Amino acid sequence: MKKESMLFSPIKIRTLILANRITMTPLYLGYANKDGTVSELILKHYRKMAQSGASLIVVENAAIHESGLGSPFTLRVDNDSYIAGLSKLAETIHNEGTLAFLQINHAGRYAFTPHRLAPSPIKIGDIIPKEMTLQEIRETINAFADAARRVKESGFDGVELHGGTGYLLSQFVSPRINKRNDIYGGSMENRFRFPIETIKAVQNKVGTDYPVGYRFLADELLPQAFHIDEAEILAKEIEKLNIAYLSVMVGTHESLHIPPYVEMEKNECYMAEYAFRIKRAVSKTPIITAGRIQTPEGAESILREGRADLIGLARILFADPLWPKKAQGLIKEPIVLCNPICSHCLKSTMKGTLPYCTQWPKEERDSILTYKRN
Ligand SMILES: Cc1cc2nc3c(=O)[nH]c(=O)nc-3n(C[C@H](O)[C@H](O)[C@H](O)COP(=O)(O)O)c2cc1C
Repeated sequence: MKKESMLFSPIKIRTLILANRITMTPLYLGYANKDGTVSELILKHYRKMAQSGASLIVVENAAIHESGLGSPFTLRVDNDSYIAGLSKLAETIHNEGTLAFLQINHAGRYAFTPHRLAPSPIKIGDIIPKEMTLQEIRETINAFADAARRVKESGFDGVELHGGTGYLLSQFVSPRINKRNDIYGGSMENRFRFPIETIKAVQNKVGTDYPVGYRFLADELLPQAFHIDEAEILAKEIEKLNIAYLSVMVGTHESLHIPPYVEMEKNECYMAEYAFRIKRAVSKTPIITAGRIQTPEGAESILREGRADLIGLARILFADPLWPKKAQGLIKEPIVLCNPICSHCLKSTMKGTLPYCTQWPKEERDSILTYKRN
């Protein structure tokens, strides 16, 4: 790739200068310890990701409350006792000259507990989640703010709120999931209230100078759900809050397995058109797009065509942690592609086993297979 490429041009996000347009979007792997603390494996993994040449690593989702854990091996940020481990993680990424954000999340009706909280008691599998009271909503907003404060105290350069994949923030905006009759349900304004209040509470807690990004669900890809036309309006509302970026994605845990999504997901740059819709809806907020961006040429054309400002790599970077250096021509070897019909990493995390990439050399796969979890 030529030196004057957009992919390798810097960009300013709030107070931060990103050396290039390549970011890692969050990729939950279940590499944390069972108690949600930072493990040796997670440090090793993020060191490798930080050495990749990407300018920003957004670390996978960390739970803001015990009731919002997505799995038993999710990172936790719901107590000050987690700050020491998270500081080590931020430092590990910084030591490679790379910026680090941590994503914070409440899984809501997708949480790893039979006592799930949600905007409304809409059945998920065999479980009927509990409709959140107004007090529980207030407590959850405060828990997001406290978690963001811990992210800042841990030394991360910014915090990302997980408004994607159908987790709690996006459950509130969904007319399919949110059937409330109070100020948090019904009209679009009411459904948007929970994420908007959460962003404001987080910003109040960490200060307006501290970058707060948002993982943004552009479409649930399900019938009678949250779609791109409403997402464009939400994006405009979030932009008014001076968010650091919107990291656009589509689909939830319920759409992930349906055939049209499975087919779409195999295509290179499959989420870029949604990112473009959101980019056109906002005026100044930087947009990240991810979704099987396998080739530097694909990434470059997204930037040149103005469909997004930043490229997000998740499985792609996991498959080939040298992707950015190879794209820049610093390493003269072919990029190892993520196999579109594999999904081993996703299936493995769903099953609760430790994932590796099937494209890795045998000794690297073996190092994961022989790793003893704490
Ligand atoms: C195993 C797995 C775990 C993921 N974990 C997260 C997560 O914690 N937070 C998040 O916002 N997105 C998560 N994602 C979505 C990715 O950030 C990304 O949007 C998606 O995988 C498409 O990009 P890719 O084709 O480069 O993987 C995850 C995806 C996979 C496959």
